[in-house]
Parts: sequence; C-alpha cells; structure tokens
Amino acid sequence: MAAETEIHPVSTSVEWLARFAGTDLEDLCCATEEAIVDGNGFGWLKPPPREKLEAYWRGVLLVPERELVVARYDGTIVGSAQLVRPPANNEAQAFAAMITTFFVAPHARGHGLARGLLQAIDRRAAERGFEAIELNVRDTQKAAIALYESHGFVRWATKQKYAKVDGKFIVGHYYVKEIMPIGKTALERAREASPASVTPIVRRP
Ligand SMILES: CC(C)(COP(=O)(O)OP(=O)(O)OC[C@H]1O[C@@H](n2cnc3c(N)ncnc32)[C@H](O)[C@@H]1OP(=O)(O)O)[C@@H](O)C(=O)NCCC(=O)NCCS
Repeated sequence: MAAETEIHPVSTSVEWLARFAGTDLEDLCCATEEAIVDGNGFGWLKPPPREKLEAYWRGVLLVPERELVVARYDGTIVGSAQLVRPPANNEAQAFAAMITTFFVAPHARGHGLARGLLQAIDRRAAERGFEAIELNVRDTQKAAIALYESHGFVRWATKQKYAKVDGKFIVGHYYVKEIMPIGKTALERAREASPASVTPIVRRP
C-alpha cells in the first residue's frame, strides 16, 4: 500500500512592523537577497553585504515618513512593501503616498501574499488621509505589472531610460491609484500635528 502523503497547510499573513523581533531582520534580509538575485532588488543590482542590508532595513523603521508592511509564510518574513509619505515641506504633494520595496521572495510566490500587501497598503493609506498611491516599476517586472493593473493602478507615464542594468537601459512605468481618504486629509493631519506657531523674529532697529 502506498504511504499517505501528509499535507502541510501553509499559513500566510501580512503585518505592519514597528520593530524586528526574533529572526525577523535576518529573514527579511534573506528574502531581499533572493529577490535581488531573481532580478528585482528595488535598485540593488546584486546583493550588498549583509551589514549594509541590515542597516538599510533598520533605517526604514527609524524614518518617520516610512511604514513597513511584511508578508509572512509559515511565520517567516518573505516579502515587504513600504508606504512612503512626502516630506513635511512638500505640502503641495501631501495628497499622495508612494509604494516602494514591494516584493515577495520567489519561494513564497503564488499564495496571495503580494495581493495581501497591496490591500494592507490601500487600507493604511486611506487611514492616513491620502487621496492617491503612486509607484513605478521596470517594464521587465511582468508579474508586478499584471498585479498592479488588476489592483486598480493606472499607468500615466513611461520613461525609456528608467534603469540601467548590465550597461543596458530598461524602460519603466509610472502608476497611480486614486483612493478615498478616511476622515481628514493627510495635509490636514500634518498641519494639526505641527501647528505653524513660529514666533515672528523682531528685527532690531
Ligand atoms: C509581483 C510579485 C510581488 C507577486 O507576488 P505573489 O505573492 O506571487 O503574488 P500573489 O500570489 O499575491 O498574486 C497576485 C496576483 O498576481 C497574479 N500573478 C502573479 N504572478 C503573475 C505572473 N507571472 N503573471 C501574471 N499574473 C501574475 C496572480 O495570478 C494573482 O492574481 P489573483 O489575485 O487575481 O489570483 C512577485 O512576483 C515579485 O516579488 N516579483 C519581483 C519583485 C517586483 O517585481 N516588485 C515590483 C517592483 S515595483
């Protein structure tokens, strides 16, 4: 009689991260390295030394304009996305947030994690009062482009010299998705958080 194959149900989740616990940082670095080797490293062409990668991810959690959402596969971090808001001085563009470092490690793809990351980003961006989410992507990232378009992102521009890989220019595309802010807009929130209560300088005669 043939031995029965035990089916191990996969657990997947998506979570906003404020600090790294346990092996989170190491796992995120491993996933990043896998994604870079696979062909998309959000800028990196080859995996940087591990200390540099760790410093990068630690830095992300320290930057007030950035929020990090991660995808877990059986508890291990296998992917990420960041919601990045414009700097405080850029009131004119305070309505739009941006997505960056969006990826799922090759071994964990096809389980809906990327879709889950985008849904979490949509929710968080609306809660923060944003009216649009923007992103850009290389033309070579066909899976990501298919996902973005099925998720409501609209292409508004294409840049011929978007990236340079192995001496060759790669085309890139710019996308936007309009969303409905929940409550106050991002600009109203920013103004409330730091009211313009600067004491005027009195010039000496
Ligand atoms: C794009 C990427 C994040 C998708 O990750 P994933 O976890 O496999 O995606 P999901 O399982 O959530 O699938 C999401 C949808 O995309 C579709 N999809 C996934 N791979 C696809 C492909 N190669 N071609 C077409 N559609 C694809 C799925 O069918 C799914 O659609 P559905 O929700 O309607 O069923 C992953 O391939 C990746 O990390 N690519 C490299 C990094 C990258 O390109 N990032 C973008 C930089 S801007």
